[in-house]
Amino acid sequence: MSLFRRKSIESLVQDSCQKSKLKQELGALDLIFLGIGAMIGTGIFVLTGIESLKSGPALPISLILAGIACILVALAYAELASIFPVTGSAYTYTYATFGEMIAWIIGWNLILEYLFVVSFVSVEWSGYVQLLLSGLGIHLSTAFAAAPFSIPFADTYFNLPAFTIIMYVTFILAQGTSSLKRINHMMVIIKVSVILLFVIVAVWYVKPDNWKPFTPFGYGGVMTAADSVFFAYIGFDAIVSAAEETKNPKKDLPKGLLISLGICICLYTMVTAVMTGIVPFQMYEINLSWPIALVLETTGQNWIAGFIDLGAILGMTTILLVMLYGQTRIFFAMSRDGLLPKRFSQVNEKHRAPVQATWLLGTIAAFAGGILPLSKLSELINMGSLFAFTLVCIVVIVLRYSNPDLPRAFRSPGVPILPLIGAGICIFLMKDLHLRTWLVFGVWSCLGLIIYFTYSRKNAVMGKESSKR
Ligand code: ALA
Repeated sequence: MSLFRRKSIESLVQDSCQKSKLKQELGALDLIFLGIGAMIGTGIFVLTGIESLKSGPALPISLILAGIACILVALAYAELASIFPVTGSAYTYTYATFGEMIAWIIGWNLILEYLFVVSFVSVEWSGYVQLLLSGLGIHLSTAFAAAPFSIPFADTYFNLPAFTIIMYVTFILAQGTSSLKRINHMMVIIKVSVILLFVIVAVWYVKPDNWKPFTPFGYGGVMTAADSVFFAYIGFDAIVSAAEETKNPKKDLPKGLLISLGICICLYTMVTAVMTGIVPFQMYEINLSWPIALVLETTGQNWIAGFIDLGAILGMTTILLVMLYGQTRIFFAMSRDGLLPKRFSQVNEKHRAPVQATWLLGTIAAFAGGILPLSKLSELINMGSLFAFTLVCIVVIVLRYSNPDLPRAFRSPGVPILPLIGAGICIFLMKDLHLRTWLVFGVWSCLGLIIYFTYSRKNAVMGKESSKR
């Protein structure tokens, strides 16, 4: 039964109060900025073109539907964050509810969401920067601008721009959370201003005829697009990883989660409504990876192209920052529990952050971005996130029945119906993922179980404590 040994809620809270040497310096506003930092990037600047081919002008509806699903999950996260002001996100909540082995599997699969997203977005970032440089007449050698086997019939060895940007982001994070906070604030302000500038400039060119027919591929098309645009919201849960660095986590985490998600849903809806109202959706096939450029060409408002480029590059950079940050804090929690080597939870005295873990994880992500052909990875990232989201919705319901009197600074409305719907949507979205994704997910989970049985179970702090008794 030791596979299902659970951490008591009291010991979790104790972990945060007594053992955490992390610096508490984040407030609600900082968390909102972190949330926007994690959500606005490739989703808005790259994905929208491809997705409009699936849903037609109803793309904003797909985004709203995916956003509503995320709100249901975010409500569950908000309640749990208000109970456990402890870092580790879904891993920690599961440890207290379903026990160690399931918590390990969740923590292990969160790597798919966090670390893989960093490598994946770094490759998008690299592609985007190369496109911009080529516009300026600067061409990087293909050999060092793409991973091996990522371009058919081309000799490619290493994606240097992807590697470099992750190492830069790692350097920022290694300076501590105040450095992340400062740089993320600045970049988020610029990228949101750029998006608003785009909407204000472009809205005058909307022709309502382009929205007709609104759903050329019917309900099925809208749902298929909703399935993949879900990727755009991935990262909202990264905020809860900041629990031990937040001054008033029980109140501020729920605010940060829900407000940042609400803002991003509005921004995504506005941008896509304007885009599909200006350029007929079929036209996005011409320039799949850069839909906004097409809108600018159509409107003749090319003077803002430079601002949009800046917004896109900074947008992708903040995703790297926040997601790598989230990954280090999840490993921090798993290491503190003994499931991973101690070096992941060692806190640097000066920066009061897990600096060793940051360099180690950042370097792994950077090499993955440099050498792996990652373009097909977004489904696997969705899978890792959906798996964690499903569990989080279930944990909220279980705790309401098993521990009804726990102090909850935030109570999710509509329990158990809303979290059940949230979990149902996540399972529905997972079901639609490709068989190949399921296979990789299965292999990845088995690898995790091997590590659990050969290392983590033996070294778990809980196991050592109980054998002493
Ligand atoms: N939500 C992130 C993005 O849009 C992963 O790129």
